[in-house]
Parts: sequence; structure tokens; C-alpha cells
Amino acid sequence: MELFDVYPLNDITIVSAKGSNVWDANNQKYLDLYGGHAVISIGHTNPHYVTRLTDQLNKVGFYSNSVKIPLQVQLAEKLGEVSGKTDYQLFLVNSGAEANENALKLASFYNGRKKVIAFSGAFHGRTSLAVAVTDNPKIVAPINQTKNVIFLPFNNEVALEETFKSQGDEISAVIIEGIQGVGGIKEASKSFLQKIRSLCDEYNAVYIADSVQCGYGRTGLFYAHDYAGVEADVYTTAKGMGNGFPVAGISIAPKFKPWHGELGTTFGGNHLACAAALAVLEVMEKDNLMQNAEEIGSYLIEELNKFEQVIEVRGRGLMIGIELPEELANVKKDLLFKHFVFTGEAKPNVIRLLPALNLTKAHAEEFLDAFSKLVN
Ligand SMILES: Cc1ncc(COP(=O)(O)O)c(C=O)c1O
Repeated sequence: MELFDVYPLNDITIVSAKGSNVWDANNQKYLDLYGGHAVISIGHTNPHYVTRLTDQLNKVGFYSNSVKIPLQVQLAEKLGEVSGKTDYQLFLVNSGAEANENALKLASFYNGRKKVIAFSGAFHGRTSLAVAVTDNPKIVAPINQTKNVIFLPFNNEVALEETFKSQGDEISAVIIEGIQGVGGIKEASKSFLQKIRSLCDEYNAVYIADSVQCGYGRTGLFYAHDYAGVEADVYTTAKGMGNGFPVAGISIAPKFKPWHGELGTTFGGNHLACAAALAVLEVMEKDNLMQNAEEIGSYLIEELNKFEQVIEVRGRGLMIGIELPEELANVKKDLLFKHFVFTGEAKPNVIRLLPALNLTKAHAEEFLDAFSKLVN
């Protein structure tokens, strides 16, 4: 059997990793400012993480949600504490798309409605509802197409207000990333998120904060949406939550009352997934990683803004987009193959930095040095 060939691959095989570095099969060392797509939050092979997972695997790796799993309760408590949402409820799943899928479903169960507002540039995943609220017709299969999704221009308060005025009693949810990732590191304005909050309150719609990429401490606060000073009804998290172990969650406001059978999953919240997620939060807390993300991110943003050729630097903390002109379209490739630095990208010409939250200043300088050789 062959692999189903959907991924354009770099000709690199990673065989080992530590902190913010990875090594390929030829023992070439790389600086990882991509984190395997915002996934590596506490650094590769973090010792506490490895020990906690290994210990757990030696006890019990998996049992289903038909029995008590105290690790789930510990994770809910810890996540509530670190994220500041102590009165929320946690439902555990396995991926970002599944988290958004369940959040949209939960909203619809809650208010009995079908319509969802999503925004231009949004990416929420590839399963049926998640892809239906994603602004990329190329990846929406005919079976995913629905008239229930209303796309509005990002950060346009007038369009949002008008839509609620005309269809408010049909709108189940508004889903929005605090900072759009795939869309090119574009931040939702504070007043836009505040407007979403007030319109959702007025019309009994559900505000879903997709924090899959921008959340989990990456921007310096636990949720990027928190910068607006208003709370969402549901936060979806994945990526950094397990530092590579597939685990995702939805944090649900107290007003949602669960009933048995409402949501479910076989793998979600298994013992190993909880151990991984707990290890991540423990390291984040112990090593003050949100503060580090804020500090190193601010330093990078300040330094990147000094490059004349850079069109714009966007983002917060360690979620940074560097927009480059067309003639510098090769920079991402050259960073990887000439300077051995992994970065992400967003079309058409934005370099995305999504490193581990414990990136050091020396790593940041190493990147800036390589970058300066390519853009000067
Ligand atoms: C904002 C956002 N939401 C959802 C997803 C989907 O997550 P997953 O690939 O884990 O399904 C992604 C993935 O890139 C994302 O960036």
C-alpha cells in the first residue's frame, strides 16, 4: 500500500528533537520556529513530559469513557486554574476540528438554531461543520456545503450588526479565531470581539472562541481572545495542549447544562492524553511560559519591525506573521535549506513563527541573524 499523497513534503526526515531543536537523518541540526504547526508548546522531548507519559503508559494507557478517569478531573481543574476559567466545564476530544465540530453542535443543542456566522480568512478545520465555517472553497467538498453558514468580513462591526438585526433569532453561534493563523496572522480587534459578545448576549447566540492555534498561552495570555476583556461561551483548544500528543478540548461556560449522551468520543480524554495535557500545563506554570512567550515575542516583533523590506509584522507573543514582498518569496525556503530554520507560512507571502513557548533569546537572535542574511 502507498500513502495517500495529500501533503507537499520537504525532503527532510526528523529523527530526534530537544527543546527548540530537531535533527535530521544526516545529523543536521535545525532551529524549530514552526513547532510542527504550533503544536510543540513546551519544547520537544521535555523531560517532565517524557517521564509523565512514560509513567502513565506503564500504569494504564487507555480505558474508555465508561469508567471514572480521575486524570480528566485533574486536567479540568488545572486548565480552569491556568486559563482563569475556573467555573467552566471541560469536554475532551482529539483534534482541533473535532473540538470546533462539537462546539458548534453544543451551541445548536443549546439554542435550537442552525445558522452560524464565520469570517473571511477563517480556518476552523476539515471535518464537516468545521470545514463549512472555513473560508476556503477548495477544501469544502460538495457534501460539506450548507446554507447555514454566513460569512462576513473579518473585523467589520457594521456587517455583523446588520446580520444580527435581520437574522438574529436564527443565529446559533459566532465562531472566530482571536488571531487568524492560516489566514495570515490577523488579529480580531478588541472592539469586534466585544461587539460579538454583546450581540450574542442580546440574541442568545453562542460566542465560540477558536483558540486551537492562537490559544494555550501562545500570545502571552492564555487565550488570545482575552485581550478584548470579554469572555467567550466556548473555547476550543488543541495543538499546544498535548505538545504533540493528540488531545483537544472545549471549555464550556456554566450556563450550558449537559445531558447524558449529548456529546461523546472513544479516544477523547484517555489516560495518556490527560497525562500529556497535565504535563504541558505543569511545565507552563512552573517555567512561566506565558510570560516568556510575551517577552521573547515582543522582542522578535520589535526587531523584525526594523527590517525595511518587511511589509508588515503582525501578531502577539510567539504567534508572529512577517509579510514579505513578492521578490522575497524564497525566504522561507532559504531559511530552511540554507540556514536550517523551520518556519511556517501563510499565503501569499507571510512567514509564520509558531515556536515553543520556552524559546530563548539566543534562539530568537539566531533566527534574526539568519533572517538578516536573506532580506538585507
Ligand atoms: C484555528 C484553527 N482551528 C482549527 C484547526 C484544526 O485543527 P486540527 O488540524 O487539529 O483538526 C486549525 C489547524 O490548523 C486551526 O489553525
